Amino acid sequence: MEAEPERWKRAAAERALALVGDGMLLGLGTGSTAHHFITGLRDLTARGFHLRGLATSLASAELAREAGVKMLPVEAPLSRSLDLAVDGADEIAPDLSLVKGRGGAMFREKLVALNTERFVVIADASKLVDRLGRGVVPVEVAPFLWPQTARRLEALGASWLLRGGTEQPYLTDNGNLILDLSFAGGLKQPEQTAALLKSVPGVIEHGLFCGLTQAAIVAGPGGLQILGSLA
Ligand code: A5P
Repeated sequence: MEAEPERWKRAAAERALALVGDGMLLGLGTGSTAHHFITGLRDLTARGFHLRGLATSLASAELAREAGVKMLPVEAPLSRSLDLAVDGADEIAPDLSLVKGRGGAMFREKLVALNTERFVVIADASKLVDRLGRGVVPVEVAPFLWPQTARRLEALGASWLLRGGTEQPYLTDNGNLILDLSFAGGLKQPEQTAALLKSVPGVIEHGLFCGLTQAAIVAGPGGLQILGSLA
């Protein structure tokens, strides 16, 4: 039998698959939970569903192609909103604000979340938190003068680590670096922190998602829990 939390991630993804209709334009997330959702689309395309998608990472795009989803070119302008975007999260607060980006894809993930009719998060119950920022808050920064950007972020009260280290830094799909920020005690006012992070020159995007999530499907030992509305 599949081990937890993998079984829970799959259960959340399966519930989200029930939201997918023929002809939909989908936003496809990144990470191990989104992986279950994307591979599950194969059953739908095999049944004759015509699905098109925009992926939040090169890895997810590849997976979706294998599942029979027609991928939109990332540079092409979207003529309309996506119908549904489904993605994982690293932390989910009671008001459905999120920390994302521990998989490094939050720049594209945020653009997808901003350009969809419905943004639904799928996760196992370990992602539920009382307050965001209990773990790291990832920030994508331009490589040019990144230590200066890091110092400006430090001035906001964060300590930071360059993901991958200076010898072999992790590079995002956009060719940028990631600084993983830690805030002692977590974030009391995530929206305010989000605005501050975004105001720092050199910051491309950060992993705080406030006011974007319509619903979270969370699976755990007690079964499935729907936070927000799937309607
Ligand atoms: C990718 O950058 C992240 O935002 C992921 O969505 C998040 O890390 C959740 O990943 P898992 O589903 O693997 O926990």
